[in-house]
Formats: sequence, structure tokens, C-alpha cells
Amino acid sequence: MRDLLKVAMPKGRINKSAIRLFQQAGFLIPDDLEGSRKLIIQVPDAGMEFIMAKPVDVATYVEYGAADIGIVGKDVLMEDNRDVYELLDLGIARCRMSVIGLPGYKPELHPRVATKYPNVASQFFRERGQQVEVIKLNGSIELAPLIGLADRIVDMVETGRTLEENGLVELETIFPITSRLIANRVSYRMKNEAIQSLCDQLYKAIMPQA
Ligand code: PRP
Repeated sequence: MRDLLKVAMPKGRINKSAIRLFQQAGFLIPDDLEGSRKLIIQVPDAGMEFIMAKPVDVATYVEYGAADIGIVGKDVLMEDNRDVYELLDLGIARCRMSVIGLPGYKPELHPRVATKYPNVASQFFRERGQQVEVIKLNGSIELAPLIGLADRIVDMVETGRTLEENGLVELETIFPITSRLIANRVSYRMKNEAIQSLCDQLYKAIMPQA
């Protein structure tokens, strides 16, 4: 059997659109992949082996060569600064990283910001010349300003529904986010033909006019 390209795929909400994109690019990937509980799924027809990973871990698998390529949010790349090649903006999972607070937020004397992205948040406020204490949380970040842990948060906004349902507002957008195709540096050299042709096919699916 030919050498399969190891693809780290994010599980969860991005999974469906990532698989759709590969299918649109002409790869024969079965629809039931996204419902499976299997963590390693070989699809020889597409020349790929999918590694179903937690989104935040995708770049780790790729950096260490456990996967040749992967799909990862720009948010994770900005936060973790991994030693990987960023090959393509896939244009999926579009959202934004924002500063969020309660309506009528007034700057505090000793501001505290809760976030899953301490590096991004620290850099953002440092560049603004603002001193803030950054508190790392792992999820449900919107709780922090509601129960007095922090006065603002830095988090992702997609539909805005979480903010709306919790009475919070976006104070400022930091940067827009989409999913990116990344590659391990050694794999990119050793499997260049396969990776480049995958890139070309994905690009055509994203930009049919190009
Ligand atoms: C993300 C993000 C926001 C929410 C935004 O959380 O951290 O909480 O989605 O999406 P929306 O604008 O469409 O409401 P996620 O669902 O990944 O869960 P988490 O709170 O555990 O991080």
C-alpha cells in the first residue's frame, strides 16, 4: 500500500466543514467519518490517514511529525506559535477574537482579563501600553465577567449567540480567524508532491474562479 498522508483533523464543530472541504476538493472521503468514534481512520482511496484530534492539539501533532499536515484555527496558531508551515487559509470556521465585557464597561484601576489565550491577550494589551492581569481559563470564559472573576475577557465570537444570551458585548475586535492548513517541516520536504497537490486541489475548491 502506498504511504498515506497523515492528516490531523480537528474533532468537534470544525470537523464537518473540514471534511466537506476535502470532499469538494475531490477526495473520496466517506460521510460517516464525522460521526465515528475511531481516532485513526484510514481512507486509502483518498491516500490519507485521518488522526481525529482535539482542535487545540492539532498543531502539536504536526510540529512533532506525528501528523504530516493538519487543520487548525488561526487562534491556536497565534497563541501557541508552533514551528510548522502555514500553507493555506481554508476560509472555514470563520470567527473573530475579541475583547468582551459587560455593557457600559469602564476601565478599572487594576484590570483583570480572563481568557483561553493568555499569550494573545498579553501581547494585545502590552502593545496598547495597558497593564492588565491575565487569568487563564479553559472554557466557558463568558462566566468570568458575570461572576466577578475578571472585568473583561478575550475570546472567540462566531455567531454572537453566547454573548447575547449572557448579556455581554464586544468591546473591540482583535483579529479575524479562519482555519488554516499546516504542515510539518520535514514532511513538507519528504512528501512535497502529495502535500502540494493536496494544497492545489483545496485551493481550487476554495477559489473556484482562480
Ligand atoms: C467558543 C467561544 C465562545 C463561543 C462563541 O466556545 O469560546 O464561548 O464558542 O460562539 P458563538 O459566538 O457562536 O456563541 P466553545 O463552544 O468552543 O466552548 P468553551 O466555552 O468550552 O470554550
